[in-house]
Amino acid sequence: MTDIAKGLEGVLFTESKLTFINGTEGILTHLGIPIQEWAENSTFEELSFALLHARLPNAAELAKFDADLRANRALPSKLVEEIASFPVHAHPMQTLRTAVSYLALFDPQAEDTTPEGRYDISVRLIAQMSTIIAASARTREGQEIVAPRMDLTHAANFLYMLTGKEPTPEQARLFDIALVLHADHGMNASTFTAIATSSTLSDTYSCIVSAIGALKGPLHGGANEAVMDMLDEVGTPDKAAEYINGKLDRKEKIMGVGHRVYKYFDPRSRVLRDYAEHVANKEGKSTYYQILETIEKTVVERIGSKGIYPNVDFYSGTVYSDLGIRKEYFTPIFALARISGWCASVNEYTRDNRLLRPDAVYTGEKDAHYVKLQDR
Ligand code: ACO
Repeated sequence: MTDIAKGLEGVLFTESKLTFINGTEGILTHLGIPIQEWAENSTFEELSFALLHARLPNAAELAKFDADLRANRALPSKLVEEIASFPVHAHPMQTLRTAVSYLALFDPQAEDTTPEGRYDISVRLIAQMSTIIAASARTREGQEIVAPRMDLTHAANFLYMLTGKEPTPEQARLFDIALVLHADHGMNASTFTAIATSSTLSDTYSCIVSAIGALKGPLHGGANEAVMDMLDEVGTPDKAAEYINGKLDRKEKIMGVGHRVYKYFDPRSRVLRDYAEHVANKEGKSTYYQILETIEKTVVERIGSKGIYPNVDFYSGTVYSDLGIRKEYFTPIFALARISGWCASVNEYTRDNRLLRPDAVYTGEKDAHYVKLQDR
């Protein structure tokens, strides 16, 4: 009997210097540095550099990288026109997928798969994903598209383009921390998808379009929006325990909990919970926060023994909600952060590329013969 690693669980297919996860102890590091330290001390710009170069930048390198990101924020005007004409009913992940693919048409370097070419494209994509997501959101909300500002940080500029208002330093910093927490996470489904595409030596844009498609699903990046749907369905905190118990009795999945790798609390969810707690202490507990508290307690009591604990998507939605962001934009915001991890992983993998080509155990018929249509 051949062993099948269902869902490729536990399969090691490459080496990486970027991210380490210990799922039983709830540890996540980038370049060996704990995620909590990145969240506390660093910025999305710095972590993006660190992932792309597999080392920390010095001050001059970081300043140059930041300047390069700022200089690349604007989109080709034809693409802005296209985004402004996207159907307003389209989900923002659909528009993101389409716009990134469209962006490739305007990039003369798009087919450059040398390490230098992939790096240049990565920098532009990290900068431009933000502009695409904000422009698509404005269109969808029936608002004028807001052009990027060069004097704001990556996080502050995104919030500015999304809302049309410059965020407070606290709002910008909070959003920056959320981006840092989501920037990379080892061989998750979307990163693996990006790598699978790159392993054919396909271009970087194709890798990122593939990754966006993988992130969109509710078992991966789509879970943050699904958590908010769940909170809206629960309605009030007093109904939360009964709602969760009912779902678990019916063997239905609870969104925002469980993880293929973490069998304990996802450390990113702890950072976000600390923030949610901080807001609750300052401004009183929001309904969402109270519902989440009860859900967390009920889930841990009922299925914690199976290794099911809150993941990063559990609290991220409340953070974005506090920033006034609607739930449809949560998954694109995940992509806005994960673009750095996708690009860094593609660049790392293709430097020592081998075509990814797993196999399946064949369980179909053998020795069959073609039957003509009229004889079936
Ligand atoms: N709610 C209830 N039970 C769960 C959940 C959940 N969310 N997740 C897993 N379980 C249970 C399963 O029913 C199964 O129980 P059983 O052994 O009695 O049959 C057991 O835990 C193992 O579950 P699997 O589905 O085999 O775990 P897998 O590693 O395949 O799934 C996944 C991981 C897909 C993330 C899953 O936990 C899930 O669907 N979670 C909800 C969606 C979600 O939040 N996704 C975001 C993940 S984080 C990210 O991508 C950013």
